[in-house]
Formats: sequence, C-alpha cells, structure tokens
Amino acid sequence: MLEQQGKDTYPYRIRQMEPHDIHTVMMLDRLVFADPWPESAYTQEIYFNPLAYYFVLELTHPLQHWRWPWKPRSTTLIGFAGMRVEQTRGHISTLAVHQDWRGMGFGELLLISALQQTMTMKASAVMLEVRPTNATARNLYAKYHFIPIGRHTRYYQDGEDALLLEVPRLDASYAQQLQERRQMVEKRIQERLNTPGLLSHQ
Ligand SMILES: CC(C)(COP(=O)(O)OP(=O)(O)OC[C@H]1O[C@@H](n2cnc3c(N)ncnc32)[C@H](O)[C@@H]1OP(=O)(O)O)[C@@H](O)C(=O)NCCC(=O)NCCS
Repeated sequence: MLEQQGKDTYPYRIRQMEPHDIHTVMMLDRLVFADPWPESAYTQEIYFNPLAYYFVLELTHPLQHWRWPWKPRSTTLIGFAGMRVEQTRGHISTLAVHQDWRGMGFGELLLISALQQTMTMKASAVMLEVRPTNATARNLYAKYHFIPIGRHTRYYQDGEDALLLEVPRLDASYAQQLQERRQMVEKRIQERLNTPGLLSHQ
C-alpha cells in the first residue's frame, strides 16, 4: 500500500515512520499539540508494538525548501499519523499536519491511510479520541462516519474531556469508499499544489 502512495509524480509521499524520524515528529508534535508525546511513546510504538503502524507525510523534491519555518531547513516532514489494533479494534492514536500545510487535503489523506492500514490489519471497528472543541478534526472524522460513543472525563492534561468516536463497522463497502475518497483527495491535493503562485518562495 505504501508504495502506491509514493507515486513519483507527487511532490509528497506517505511512508512508514522510521526511528530516525522520531526527533522531527516530536518537533511537529510540540508545535501542534498542547500535550505532545514523549520520545518513549514513539519508541514503544515503533520498536515494540507489532500491532501499531505510524506514518509520516513528507515533501519530496523540489518543494522541500519553501514554506518551512523550522531548522533544519532540510526537514521535509509535514505531517504524521498513527494507529494500533487492540484485539479486533483499531485505534487511531494521533494525526497532525503542520499548520502551513492545512486545508489542502493532507489531513484527510493521512486519515485514509490510517483507516486503510487498520483494515489491512483486520480490525472490524475503529475508534479515536478527540477534543469536543476541535471542530476541524470533528468535521474530518464525521466525513468518515465516526460517531460519538462516549466521553473520557478530564482526558487531556489541561483537563478537557475527550469524546470517543467510532466507526463501528469496517466492511467491504467502507473499504470501497476509502479507495474512492483517496483518489479524490489525491486529485484535490494535486490541483491545490498546482495553483498559480502557491509554489513560489514566500
Ligand atoms: C485535523 C487536521 C489533521 C486536518 O488536517 P488538514 O490537512 O487541514 O485537513 P484537510 O485539508 O484534509 O481537510 C479535511 C476535512 O477536515 C475538515 N476541515 C479542515 N479544515 C477545516 C476548518 N478550517 N474548519 C472546519 N473543518 C475543517 C473538513 O471536514 C475537511 O473536509 P472538506 O475539505 O471536504 O470540507 C489538522 O487541522 C491538524 O493537524 N490539526 C491539529 C492537530 C489535531 O487536531 N489533530 C487531530 C487530533 S484528534
């Protein structure tokens, strides 16, 4: 599946997170989330959890030097996502896109990748936690038929509750929808990347 995602024609690719990515992922995690993961959490998932799968979204040549506010400038990693399967239930554990690259479809593409991986690993349902105040993420999850099934009180470090969302049935029809959506999202991203002016140096 991952090879398919890295088509040479695209100026980005989604690939499996490797140990050498952890430092950069953590920098992005700190930029994006109020309660970023410690290094040990990534290490645990990548090295020791055979039922976990983490992705990174990276730019490929020639876009790698623009719009990039951090050091080192050679860093091209602009998003990540992760999932694990516990018994027959998938759990999307994290999802983020760098703020400069939002609104283009990358978050959706990462979510589709995580959902497809969940199905590859034979989960029959998938769940995740989201802040009730995170309207953007909730919209995205609603698009993929996540429904509320509960709430964890004071789940986040700042005391906010988490909503528990689930897709209760991952079946052939859902897999088909994911594949169709994936094609649409990839097309949309390509069109946005081709927008005149978008690719000029800022
Ligand atoms: C959530 C997040 C990953 C979305 O990534 P993105 O690349 O900006 O999203 P996309 O461009 O793929 O948009 C996909 C859908 O998300 C929703 N969405 C995206 N931006 C939105 C916005 N500004 N307001 C409301 N909904 C929005 C829409 O449903 C959109 O679908 P549409 O384009 O058909 O309307 C990104 O905002 C992010 O990293 N946020 C911070 C981290 C986070 O909250 N992660 C989720 C933790 S549970």
